Amino acid sequence: GSIVHVLGARPNFVKAAPVIGALRAAGADQAVVHTGQHYDERMSDVFFHELGLPEPDVNLGVGSGSHAAQTAALLTALEAEFTRRSPALVIVYGDVNSTIAAALVAAKLHIPVAHVEAGLRSFDMTMPEEVNRRLTDQLSRLCFATSPEAVGHLAREGVPVERVHLVGNPMIDTLLAHLDRFDTAAVRAKHGLPERYALATMHRPANVDAPETAAALVRHLHGVADLADLVIPVHPRGRANLLAAGLDDHPRVRVLEPLGYIDFVAAVRGAAAVVTDSGGLQEETTILGVPCLTVRPNTERPITITHGTNRLVGFEELVPEARKALEAGEASPRTDRRPPLWDGKAGPRIAEVIMEFLGDRSA
Ligand code: UD1
Repeated sequence: GSIVHVLGARPNFVKAAPVIGALRAAGADQAVVHTGQHYDERMSDVFFHELGLPEPDVNLGVGSGSHAAQTAALLTALEAEFTRRSPALVIVYGDVNSTIAAALVAAKLHIPVAHVEAGLRSFDMTMPEEVNRRLTDQLSRLCFATSPEAVGHLAREGVPVERVHLVGNPMIDTLLAHLDRFDTAAVRAKHGLPERYALATMHRPANVDAPETAAALVRHLHGVADLADLVIPVHPRGRANLLAAGLDDHPRVRVLEPLGYIDFVAAVRGAAAVVTDSGGLQEETTILGVPCLTVRPNTERPITITHGTNRLVGFEELVPEARKALEAGEASPRTDRRPPLWDGKAGPRIAEVIMEFLGDRSA
């Protein structure tokens, strides 16, 4: 059997690209299964093309649904796929519903699982991602961690130490690999953005699913827009609630469709500050040196606070903190320390461990 990568949602594609590239360089036999959790051109195809990912060998077309409906469809489709392919190893990424579904199916079929981005914890079980991460790590034979505290979490949860490998951050591999393509002047021209702007992204269920919360959030985002032009590429989740609450009823708010990877990171690189509830963007701003205000009560990525530019803010703190970040200016990241091993070589480290693991099993 070959190595099967299971990819479902936008952040998975960014994390998988360097792992697939490094395994290809090592001569591995591999296949890509796209679950179809994300399916819009702008949420999926663009990333495959821009990141040089191989066309998926199959797209399971699972689509959207409630957690139960989507996960059930994922389980059924992945079981058929793994039974047909009998992979030697299944690699899963991050914390989306496709991740836990693939890990669960593989474990029941006695197929070893490798989890890329293991051990992150927000300690907030109301987040679907926290449920997905915890369970995936328990089912994984190989846990690839991006930061030292993640290794500590796995140890405390009883994951045997020989399963855990601190390898750095493959999302940062992708960022560094494409650094010279992030042309902020070009992206400003393409989307008609002003010279100086802040950029916001919002898609967490806790922030956008309830109309009243979405409306409160919009009021605070308008407060930020009073300070600086505010560019907001809108994720399909929450689009309706945010627009119904009047998101674009402010002269300095620019609502955009979801951007491709290159345009998005270029826009982030050129921003005076970022306001977000994304996970990956906390990491990308840390490396780009752009101040990041994360509108959440917690983060599973605390290293972006201690070694990066990230800060957690509640709704009420958003405008005052944005004022501070904008005054400090884009040239002054909060720290010049970088998280250890966020050096662009996580993919090769992961590939090396995997090749050794598979070699030992076939010996
Ligand atoms: C998922 C992940 C989340 C991640 C995010 C990144 C889970 C539980 N959540 O959230 O951790 O941060 O991806 O983008 O897996 N939709 C479209 N087109 C698409 C995909 C989704 O219109 O291509 C809409 C649908 O209305 C869908 C909604 O977005 O119901 C939510 O999609 P879903 O995949 O369930 O979760 P995300 O919010 O995207």
